[in-house]
Amino acid sequence: MPNESVNDTIVDVLRTALGVDKDWVESTIEVPGDRKMGDLALPCFKLAKEKRKAPAQIAKEASDSLPQELPKGVDRIEAVGPYLNVFFDPKSQARDLLESILENGDRFGSSAVGSGKKVVLDFSSPNIAKPFGVGHLRSTVIGHSVANILNFQGYECIRINHFGDWGTQFGKLMVAYIEWGDEVDLEGNDPIQGLLQLYVKFHKLAEEDPSWDDRGREWFKKLEDGDEEALRLWTWFKEISLKEFDRIYTRLGVEFDSYSGEAFYNDKMVRVIQRLEEKNLLEESRGAKIVDLEEYGLTPVLIQRSDDATLYATRDLAAAYYRHDTYEFHKNLYFVASAQNDHFKQVFKVLELLGEPWAKDCEHVPFGLISFADGMMSTRRGKVVFLEDVLDQAVERVDKIISEKNPALNNRAEVAEQVGVGAIVFYDLTRRRIKDWTFDWDRILTFEGETGPYAMYSHARFRSILRKAKQRGLEPHTTIDEIQFDALDNDEAKSLLQALEEFPDQIRRAGEQYEPSLVTQSVLEVADKANKFYNAHHVLVDEEDISRTRLLLVHAVATVLKTGLTLLGVAAPEEM
Ligand code: ARG
Repeated sequence: MPNESVNDTIVDVLRTALGVDKDWVESTIEVPGDRKMGDLALPCFKLAKEKRKAPAQIAKEASDSLPQELPKGVDRIEAVGPYLNVFFDPKSQARDLLESILENGDRFGSSAVGSGKKVVLDFSSPNIAKPFGVGHLRSTVIGHSVANILNFQGYECIRINHFGDWGTQFGKLMVAYIEWGDEVDLEGNDPIQGLLQLYVKFHKLAEEDPSWDDRGREWFKKLEDGDEEALRLWTWFKEISLKEFDRIYTRLGVEFDSYSGEAFYNDKMVRVIQRLEEKNLLEESRGAKIVDLEEYGLTPVLIQRSDDATLYATRDLAAAYYRHDTYEFHKNLYFVASAQNDHFKQVFKVLELLGEPWAKDCEHVPFGLISFADGMMSTRRGKVVFLEDVLDQAVERVDKIISEKNPALNNRAEVAEQVGVGAIVFYDLTRRRIKDWTFDWDRILTFEGETGPYAMYSHARFRSILRKAKQRGLEPHTTIDEIQFDALDNDEAKSLLQALEEFPDQIRRAGEQYEPSLVTQSVLEVADKANKFYNAHHVLVDEEDISRTRLLLVHAVATVLKTGLTLLGVAAPEEM
């Protein structure tokens, strides 16, 4: 059904008039692109054959047979060509909407559809001892926002950061540290930079002389065998990384319920291999153990290497079982770049072959790439784009913009941080997640257009209108009976009300599709329509009642903008 507001009574009336069943109406009814054509439209084409009549005639006859009294909130139902169009009564629509926003406040748009259901979200999941790159930013902000959106709909969300904290790269890093540890500063304020230098140096040498890689593998083997020195170094590298990641998560306002990374599954993989053996799924291939998936058009999954080192897929299988046993999830989601499409197809296929009915509840939620125009980022740290540098630059640039736009702002540093970070997050969530996007400061930071600063600025603007009114002793209407509908009887107010009304639907869809961009678009729509309303109509006028009704609309806008921004993981400063 296109819209929550299609209530059963409306469906009933239409069903009776057309002589069809409820399901048919529900699956056929649509929201016209042009709202002048009504708030709902029921196309009658599909009935023509069965009824042996022209669609227009069917619509006409149905409209003639409508009951005298229409359902509450419906102004009229008309046959327009082959369509039966339903027009809501704008007053009662506005009334219901504003009443709902007044009653629910920052819970407006929430629901309980997910109550009693658990959703596991694996997101962010950066690799230890490597810089937190912009690819992991996408996973972080998309996963975080989807968790917020699902939570708002009653789901219990388990946020898991599946750190890449195991693998041969640690062996390499240990060798590099033992060799050149005194050349880098791992205790200073940029230890990740030190780790990266070690890493880069190691790779350069290993390219020319593969014996370095052998040494790396030896050290990783030591780590797997529990060697004390290897464990000490591993723990230390991990601590260094976690400290850096924590700083980023704090800035982004992101938290997790579990930080069990890949290493957590070290002792849980034997069981996976056993299960695979029990089901006869394992095959030997050049000394390694694999699951052949050729039949399904997939490349083989490497489960165990000849040197006994276990692999990414095996850990994911162990993790999936662990999550199933621990959380009894309704859905188990992985927010990982589309580059790993095949990996997840393989993992889910193996779970299915293992006969796990819950394999179908595991889903990969992929996303596209962020790319950078050449020379766009300062190259202080070489080729890798560090997320922290990106955030710092955003904040710096926003700080400059605010110092020009609003020099009197008291807490400028705090607001610049919120707006700078928020701009990046918002931009990342503006288009469908599967789309690639290119970094472009001008687009991301402008206070006009489809940006975070624009949405945040609009929110602050409407809050300030409410504050100013209050200073003059004017408050929004607090009960629906006081509303002066004349104050809302204009095109701008109507399209604003419509944008507000669509907000809960967009949240619901965003949750179903794991697609925060639907919330972003709804926020932008509300901001845009609200600014148009404000530019065309004075809120504070001589007539107090009119002012108070318009203030109620402003209050509704500010409430919805804040909820939307919060769901996206973006701050909503009061002033900026
Ligand atoms: N650490 C991996 C990477 O950076 C992502 C892990 C995603 N989660 C998972 N369960 N595989 O590529």
